[in-house]
Amino acid sequence: MSITPIGGAFDRPGRKVTTASLRDQKLHHQKITCLTAYDYASARLVDEAGIDMVLVGDSLAQTMLGYENTLSVTMDEMLHHVKAVRRGVKNALLIADMPYGSYQVDAKDAILNAARFVKEGGAEVVKLEGGERRADLIRRIIDAEIPVAGHIGLTPQSVNVMGGYKVQGKNLGAIEQLMRDAVALDRAGVAFMVLEGIPREVAAMITNEVSTPTIGIGAGPECDGQVLVFHDLLNLTFHTPAKFVRRYGDAAALITESVQAFRADVKSQQYPSDEESYHLPMDTRTALDTVLARKRAMGR
Ligand code: KIV
Repeated sequence: MSITPIGGAFDRPGRKVTTASLRDQKLHHQKITCLTAYDYASARLVDEAGIDMVLVGDSLAQTMLGYENTLSVTMDEMLHHVKAVRRGVKNALLIADMPYGSYQVDAKDAILNAARFVKEGGAEVVKLEGGERRADLIRRIIDAEIPVAGHIGLTPQSVNVMGGYKVQGKNLGAIEQLMRDAVALDRAGVAFMVLEGIPREVAAMITNEVSTPTIGIGAGPECDGQVLVFHDLLNLTFHTPAKFVRRYGDAAALITESVQAFRADVKSQQYPSDEESYHLPMDTRTALDTVLARKRAMGR
């Protein structure tokens, strides 16, 4: 890697986002922004761009690790990324996603795993999927001084139960369940709730009903804020994006062009140039020239 340092302490102006300031944003109708990040560089760029929340999502299973879905990613894999992101984030609120299997078995395990994200990873909030039936567990984690975010609607860890990634809340029964889920999370005291893959009208009703900030992904514009996956935003996913994704840049094209240009320059000896090379100090150069001339003169 380059010998120019990239890490270490950095000064960054701006206000620290907290769970309390998120509620203020909802109260004052200021939209909340959230992006996923999974490593130091992307976390730092997202934070410096002024995004309110950085989520180390279990979507890293697919985006970073190439798994088919989010079910395989482990606590240790998640922690590795949370620690890297922590080093890049200063002002944004840092959220760690609890992976599948880390909170479904029993409450004690769930609290221990949530505490690892805080203690070892430096996360400020943990997020877990599910509504009404997770309310008691969420209360217990909050009792352990760990803020929790909820996630309802299309919950990717339930992919096998849902039979695919399908928009939820499309009939009256499902809408009623979603409302019950949202109210249960609100009462349990979550810091915010992600509404994923639900009709705009239902997300708007939930957002009006609860005092907790709602953060939408594929849930329409009435939510209190929006979250997108970093790799979706930048065309780094290698698949056709979902309907709700807006691509703000084409990092895949940029990376491919840059890599191809590097390859071509090396092959054609255009890289590195003399300006990109280190040189001997003048006195060493003179001494070396003298030694080489002497060797040539001696016929060696
Ligand atoms: O894992 C993730 O990226 C998420 C977002 C889609 C909200 O949970």
